[in-house]
Amino acid sequence: MTNNAPIGVYDSGLGGLTVWREIRRALPGESLLYLGDGKNCPYGSRPREEVQALADAAVGYLVGQGCKMIVVACNTATAAAIDFLRAKYAAVPIVGMEPAVKPACLHTRSGVVGVLATERSLDGELFRRTAERYGHGIEVLTVPGRGFVELVESDREATPEAEACVRAAVEPMLARGADQIVLGCTHYPFLLPVLERVVAGRDVTIVDSSPAVARRVANLLDERSLRAAADHRPVYTFHTFADEAYRQRLETKALADA
Ligand code: DGL
Repeated sequence: MTNNAPIGVYDSGLGGLTVWREIRRALPGESLLYLGDGKNCPYGSRPREEVQALADAAVGYLVGQGCKMIVVACNTATAAAIDFLRAKYAAVPIVGMEPAVKPACLHTRSGVVGVLATERSLDGELFRRTAERYGHGIEVLTVPGRGFVELVESDREATPEAEACVRAAVEPMLARGADQIVLGCTHYPFLLPVLERVVAGRDVTIVDSSPAVARRVANLLDERSLRAAADHRPVYTFHTFADEAYRQRLETKALADA
């Protein structure tokens, strides 16, 4: 493996592109290989063992492609499988997602923090530990973003239907006084314009952990001396377990947005 090998970025589908674009911004000299499973999306309400098996297949694929580092840009797969993946693929550094509960708890003024994530992420050990560690004296409200992933996967993230769906999840948090809303799924930042309309006029901060994940990737590259050479020309490739049409959607969405 060389320093010019790509960083692998993996998600169940399109959502990890919100992390991909932050990594690209933070590390413009690095090649990136994006894998959006697509075939098995959504992961969010599958049993943990199933998500672990899907994540295993995906990370095995990225290792086979020669990735020098892997970012599991999926909160659900991180919650279900990160320890397993790090043990099995010990030769490759693996970065996972952590919902930004810590900064939200540090910055809340009302003492109420809302977390939106998939069902599987919210009932996972990882989330429970994070909420326990940082949520002392703070009310952490969790709401599964029902239908959110499907809206993004079908390009309906800017529709009135999306707004109604997001409003239904967020209104109860606002009614309880939440002033921080944590996006605990990498698909959700695509719903930001709708979310911002729903919280308009209130003093609410929406917290996304993808910039922090990109910083973690940069630090880890330095720690392991894995930065690409200064004269390396970065290459962006897109892979899927679905079909060519889906692969093209990944590419178009990533590059349109970047
Ligand atoms: N984007 C994913 C996450 O961060 C998974 C969404 C899904 O497939 O349900 O949780």
